Amino acid sequence: MKTNFFKFLAGAFGLIVFSLVLFSFVNKNAESDPWDIPAKYKKMKNPTTPDSETNKIGQQLYKKHCASCHGKKGFGDGKKADELDTAMPDISTDEYKAQLPGVKYYQSFIGRDEMPNFEKKIPDEEDRWFIINYMDTF
Ligand code: HEC
Repeated sequence: MKTNFFKFLAGAFGLIVFSLVLFSFVNKNAESDPWDIPAKYKKMKNPTTPDSETNKIGQQLYKKHCASCHGKKGFGDGKKADELDTAMPDISTDEYKAQLPGVKYYQSFIGRDEMPNFEKKIPDEEDRWFIINYMDTF
């Protein structure tokens, strides 16, 4: 009677370990948690009007700071993407583009976890919007 109980326990334990391993594997491909964007960012307006000149500046900055993870066209297929624990989002989609400007701003320059903060590296307010405008061309 006792041995059966221990066999059951061992089996149950094995099953839990197995599910945890499986979950951590599947989790990387799952949709990420929604971002918690502070109200002050949600209210932000884009002060720039995109044109080919400023899109070029945005492109250069994007290539320098963002493409290594997000990929040249924003698909999330940059060189470093495989090294990350977080699943890379696709920023070329209509769903991404439809978001409020300040939401994109917060995600791009404040960041969270494996999405780095760029406030120091890209201090110029206009440069930041040029990058956001450029990403909208994907
Ligand atoms: C080290 C890799 C890395 C670099 C470099 C990087 N990102 Fe990210 N980015 C991420 C990861 C990982 C996420 C997903 C974060 C999450 O959901 O927690 C992300 C998320 C985002 C998102 C949110 C997209 C969405 O729909 O969820 C935006 C916008 C973004 N990054 C913009 C940028 C910009 C702009 C730059 C360059 C200035 C940049 N990122 C540089 C890794 C990176």
